[in-house]
Amino acid sequence: MASTIGTFARVGAHSHIKGLGLNDKGKAKFIGDGLVGQIKAREAAGLIVRLIKEGKMAGRAILLAGPPGTGKTAIAVGIARELGEDVPFVQLSGSQIYSAEVSKTEVLIRALRKAIGVRFREYRRVLEGEVVKFEPHFAPHPYNPYQRIVREAKLTLRTKKERVTLTVGPSVAQEMIAKGVEEGMVIMIDKEGGHVSVLGISKEASVPRYDVGRIPEVDVPDGPVEKEKEFVYLTTLDELDELFHKRYSGGGFFSLLFGGREERKEIDPETRMQVDKFVKEAVESGKAEIIPGVLFIDEIHMLDIESFSFLNRALESELAPIVIMASNRGFTKIRGTDIVSPHGMPLDILDRVLIIPTEPYKPEEIKEILKIRAREEKINISDEALELLTKYGAEISLRYAIQLMAPAWERAKFHGRDAVSVEDVEAVRERFASIEESVRHLKEWEERFLK
Ligand SMILES: Nc1ncnc2c1ncn2[C@@H]1O[C@H](COP(=O)(O)OP(=O)(O)OP(=O)(O)O)[C@@H](O)[C@H]1O
Ligand SMILES: [Mg+2]
Repeated sequence: MASTIGTFARVGAHSHIKGLGLNDKGKAKFIGDGLVGQIKAREAAGLIVRLIKEGKMAGRAILLAGPPGTGKTAIAVGIARELGEDVPFVQLSGSQIYSAEVSKTEVLIRALRKAIGVRFREYRRVLEGEVVKFEPHFAPHPYNPYQRIVREAKLTLRTKKERVTLTVGPSVAQEMIAKGVEEGMVIMIDKEGGHVSVLGISKEASVPRYDVGRIPEVDVPDGPVEKEKEFVYLTTLDELDELFHKRYSGGGFFSLLFGGREERKEIDPETRMQVDKFVKEAVESGKAEIIPGVLFIDEIHMLDIESFSFLNRALESELAPIVIMASNRGFTKIRGTDIVSPHGMPLDILDRVLIIPTEPYKPEEIKEILKIRAREEKINISDEALELLTKYGAEISLRYAIQLMAPAWERAKFHGRDAVSVEDVEAVRERFASIEESVRHLKEWEERFLK
């Protein structure tokens, strides 16, 4: 996503992709949602999205297979955009599992559990309204006569329908003071837990409003002050693991002092079992719902045999996300073995995947992708320069052509031009090497030194 802070903008490689660009019959437009061409793969991805939404993909996996720079990652991003906000989408690159801090399976298990959402729903009794009056009563502190503490408070709340005066206990009164509750604010108090939330400043109240540090303006609530309200909370299994881990980590008093800041490294299996049990019970009693998301593993050939067998087992478990893998390798060795296999993947995993191939782009497709990227990066480019970049995209690689755009634009501006010219493209073509060229270059040097 492009984000702008002041004049500094960072544009991600796939920020132009907003979806899969399909019509309501699932057919791909030549250009849609920032995606160009690759029609069959996009339509296949569209079918996958429908299956996921209907809950019919559980325990299965998808493999996007094709040469480098043919939009495998782009299509996975498109799938994520189509699934919507609430469906978790987690991205992992095969090489990321080799971390010095935690084991390979811990990285995988965390990624898998991040990709499973849980939506909790609960009805709670709350008091909600605009604060008409808030009068705390103070008493001297029992241990320190110079200090005063809140004993209780008189609170009057109003809605559009009624006005209620209540007495609240010390903990709620204290929380209200701590949160800066004043007359004119709209607040909500959770009746059982006693927690106070400030919802905003009432639109009808005549209180000062600030430009900085301001609180949102809200309507005075309708209906009664005391009511049942539905709360929805979206989380993931991984977040719950972390919460449970913190709460049950145990240890004595000194581990609190010394261990408090320590970063979480590994979570023990018992904690995860507790979380699963907790979630299953919540689902059974109608308080929660599971939202399986997607785990995208790029560079799948980087996984080794152990990780693959772990993944294979994980796919069979009850709580598994949809796994989308990507590979730009043909036959290659499965890491950790001498076995050569398609995409460097063991056959038992290959047996469960639906494969979506991606094809190399034609020049007219490359040209459209370059145009979209130029627009995304706010680069002006002349038609002739675009033709030349397209030629490089086709002959060398799409990614190389995309990479050349930013330096070419910098050079154009430097020479006082308001669009990239052929000369700029030629100049950066000479100054920056493609991957093949830089490898060849180093090889020549090695040969000279070894002589
Ligand atoms: N069909 C497309 N429409 C629009 N943009 C695309 C398309 N295909 C690729 N791109 C863009 O081109 C660049 C390279 O594509 P991408 O990274 O998706 O390729 P890849 O197949 O994942 O390559 P690799 O095998 O090297 O990982 C990215 O910036 C991507 O967003
Ligand atoms: Mg990729």
